[in-house]
Amino acid sequence: MKPKPLRFFAPCPRGLESILADELEQLGATCVKPSNGGVYFQGDWETCYRTNLESRIASRVLWQVADQAYINEDQIYKAAYALPWNDWFPPTHTIRVNLAAIKCPLRSLDFVTLKIKDAVCDKFREMSGKRPSVDTVQPDIRIHGFLDARRFTLYVDTSGDALFKRGLRKTAGDAPLRENLAAGILRLSGWKPGTPLLDPMCGSGTFLLEAAQMALNIAPGIKRQFAFERLNQFNTLLWNNLKEAAIAKQQPSSPQPIFGSDLYGDALTAAQTNLTVAGLDDVVQLKQANMLEISAPTPTGILVTNPPYGVRIGEQEKLAALYPKVGDTLKRKFSGWNAYIFTGDPMLPKLMRLSTSRRTPLFNGALECRLFEYKMIAGGMRKDKTK
Ligand SMILES: C[S@@+](CC[C@H](N)C(=O)[O-])C[C@H]1O[C@@H](n2cnc3c(N)ncnc32)[C@H](O)[C@@H]1O
Repeated sequence: MKPKPLRFFAPCPRGLESILADELEQLGATCVKPSNGGVYFQGDWETCYRTNLESRIASRVLWQVADQAYINEDQIYKAAYALPWNDWFPPTHTIRVNLAAIKCPLRSLDFVTLKIKDAVCDKFREMSGKRPSVDTVQPDIRIHGFLDARRFTLYVDTSGDALFKRGLRKTAGDAPLRENLAAGILRLSGWKPGTPLLDPMCGSGTFLLEAAQMALNIAPGIKRQFAFERLNQFNTLLWNNLKEAAIAKQQPSSPQPIFGSDLYGDALTAAQTNLTVAGLDDVVQLKQANMLEISAPTPTGILVTNPPYGVRIGEQEKLAALYPKVGDTLKRKFSGWNAYIFTGDPMLPKLMRLSTSRRTPLFNGALECRLFEYKMIAGGMRKDKTK
């Protein structure tokens, strides 16, 4: 008889749920169900390992170990205490409990967090005479609780560090994007390896790094470790086989039509360092240039960028002068290209003065942003200012 499938939840940046659902299906997940800020799915440990290793969009993979109705803290304690924690990891592992809640009627979330931690430790002491210690900075095992108005759900985090920490980006530069958000934006743009790609304001090069890894079919998690390796049920042979299969699928490093530029030398140095550390500097072409002075490197392609975004008055004035010029450069020099501009600045689309063919709401952490699509057709893009 086949074992019962395990239940998982993979959180992701809000707005990327449906493309994460597609990705999870391709990775072999079943019962895939997008929700707010993530996707529920089912599978076995192999699906879990593979998702951690290969998902470019998920932020984590959480294994659901409890899901039930609650009305008070005591019921939550009992539900957490009932779980066979000592089957899953030894008491020598350190733990951390995180709690998130929406419309939860209980008075103190800190108190609930403490109750869950106590339940885990009490159960360990009962079963083995020893209890795990808490480490809030670098725990071996993270436990995530989630409460809505009526239900309590508990997860063991199989990822450890968030999956967007690929272990590749060594210098961050100015307001870098999270890697999984950058990968999701590339997917939303419809970019496929082989199609020319340009980020003319590349900063530390997050779009370029993600695109280069996609082009060479490099599994994003191939160089890092995961929390599931610390669980008792960890299957080393299965994991080694998955990693070997991922390495066998990698393409040898070769120049790709992936182009990046930035106005500032510091940003380019950061991008160059990051590509070098990742072994991808042959794959991407970088140069220092003002976006307003560049020409399209190929007749057609996809431009994806995340322009500077200012909150202070002086910065806003500068940007109000820059954005119309960016729109103008796209119109004059990029006909035949599709441009995707990711921004949290609500003024940008008006100031660009180009017709938007699609706008996709996306969240960069808590900041609501948009991905604007501009199809640059010669002569046809300028908005009629009289309208
Ligand atoms: C928000 S940051 C991009 C961050 C990048 N996506 C990353 O993940 O690291 C905006 C970048 O635009 C660059 N920039 C500003 N004005 C520019 C211009 N006129 N031409 C080219 N780059 C410019 C800045 O140097 C900065 O690196």
